[in-house]
Amino acid sequence: MKILYATSEAVPFCKTGGLADVAGSLPAALSQEGAEVAVILPLYQRVREKFGDQLHFECYDFVNLAWRNCYCGLFSLEKDGVTWYFIDNEQYFNRPDLYGYMDDGERFGFFSRAVVRMLHHLKFWPDVIHCNDWQTALVPIYLKDDGVREEQYRSIKTTLTIHNIEYQGRYGKEVLGDLFGLDGGWMADGTIQMDGDVNLLKGAILCADAINAVSPTYANELKNPFFAHRMDSILNQCSYKLSGVLNGIDMQLYNPATDSRISECYSAEDMSGKAVNKATLQKMMGLNEEPHVPIVAMVSRLVSHKGLDLVREVLHDIMELPLQLVVLGKGDAQYEEFFRWAAQQYSGRMSVCLDYNESLSMAIYSGADLFLMPSKSEPCGLSQMIAMRYGTVPIVRETGGLRDSVRPYEAWRDAGTGFTFANYSSSDMLHVINEAVYLYKDYPDAFGRLRGRAMAEDFSWGRSAKEYLRIYANITGQMWENPVMEEVPAVEEAPAVEEAVTPAEEIAAPVEKKETPKAKKAPAKKASAKKTEKTTEKKATKKATKAESAAEIAADPAEKPAEIKTRKKGTARTAAKEK
Ligand code: GLC
Repeated sequence: MKILYATSEAVPFCKTGGLADVAGSLPAALSQEGAEVAVILPLYQRVREKFGDQLHFECYDFVNLAWRNCYCGLFSLEKDGVTWYFIDNEQYFNRPDLYGYMDDGERFGFFSRAVVRMLHHLKFWPDVIHCNDWQTALVPIYLKDDGVREEQYRSIKTTLTIHNIEYQGRYGKEVLGDLFGLDGGWMADGTIQMDGDVNLLKGAILCADAINAVSPTYANELKNPFFAHRMDSILNQCSYKLSGVLNGIDMQLYNPATDSRISECYSAEDMSGKAVNKATLQKMMGLNEEPHVPIVAMVSRLVSHKGLDLVREVLHDIMELPLQLVVLGKGDAQYEEFFRWAAQQYSGRMSVCLDYNESLSMAIYSGADLFLMPSKSEPCGLSQMIAMRYGTVPIVRETGGLRDSVRPYEAWRDAGTGFTFANYSSSDMLHVINEAVYLYKDYPDAFGRLRGRAMAEDFSWGRSAKEYLRIYANITGQMWENPVMEEVPAVEEAPAVEEAVTPAEEIAAPVEKKETPKAKKAPAKKASAKKTEKTTEKKATKKATKAESAAEIAADPAEKPAEIKTRKKGTARTAAKEK
């Protein structure tokens, strides 16, 4: 299988966001699975500066973009079994930033055109071109357009990954012919038209052979107007070719046992290094050096879809809890001002750094205890996975990739990998923060096991690569062994009750002795009720309870989401699936 991966950014060459991390890791993982892979991206100024001496000049040609005939250089580099191609045109790409120029439409129009027109200079003719976001959305469109006249283009299949539906490549309709060189028919039949404008992403959604979002939940959410930025109807129409593939993280780079970016290395077997990192973090951030007070951390762009309104609404209630709060990130002025002000109110207990700082972010992942991500929407999100890898237990809202990567904690059967809440509500968020903080403080063994499960999660790229190979196989009709079926992660995997170190006793006992906050009582009750049962009975009862609740929910479709939420989250989800 020959795959050409077209992207506008990739680690380690150039990065503005999560797409670069994906493009930096997925191609090598595909190659490890046996595919032949090449990546193609623009030769930006920063790539030329940092990697110029490693690049090999392949050739140059001229690429037509409407009435323009543009110089197009092709450079290459071999890395991890993948050939990296760089498209050179100084007028378009020799600039300090990747995006943000008034001619971005023309720049990425040229790039997409070059991907198609330079194909015959590459080492292979691809079976699939894998495009990403609006910047490469014109590729499937050009392939169809050229394919009408030139047969060779008809054999290539395309797939499009949507990393964030917010960015669609929207331009005035007058640019269609002049900038992109496309016939008015593309607009007239609606393929590339939305609300009277040219919309490149819409065109690609319609033209690509397969489309996927970066998590299964986000793929579903995209059919809903709340998330879809006006693309819901088109994604509903195309749902037959829409799927969700959860991103991974680079498990070698993000490994607390070997990471040279953190002060002390550690592993699930020996967590002593994490305590040292916590003390270092407290020192660095001017927090009181209290080893037994949990540090709740946020590393995030400070923008509205990250759910910062929820934090703002209940900040004082959060700070009533015995915790410390650390915030790292920059973004909208309103949030920056708020966090700056808040840190002054709680000096010694809350610390804020309004910047993006890689080494501080690693100090936080490795030193904090809990990681808060209450996003309103989150296509995938990588930070929660990084946090889990470093034993920093996530507290997330159940949306997009957060829902797909964090399994809700269930005290009664000692399962789950983090704390989750469903509604976009500050009191629901506060409730789980409270639950998390008290589990940390009062039941360190149960918290330790939860942390161990989070650290053991498999977020490797191999898993995602297999799912992409299945997509490529579907659209090309080529045979590809399908190991995915055996390896699909059990999303609702319940660690067997017998494996747990008598969670019932441990959790139930202190409850009887001392006064406990409300949040803890519910799980404790469930746990003590189960205490005397034999393991097999437990399993049977669990199954029956699940089935009952599922039947109840199914029987009452009018039941409000809020009511469903009061049930065990696992149960509600299972019921929804069965429905
Ligand atoms: C976008 C999304 C983010 C995702 C990343 C990589 O930046 O907002 O959630 O992790 O793309 O796919």
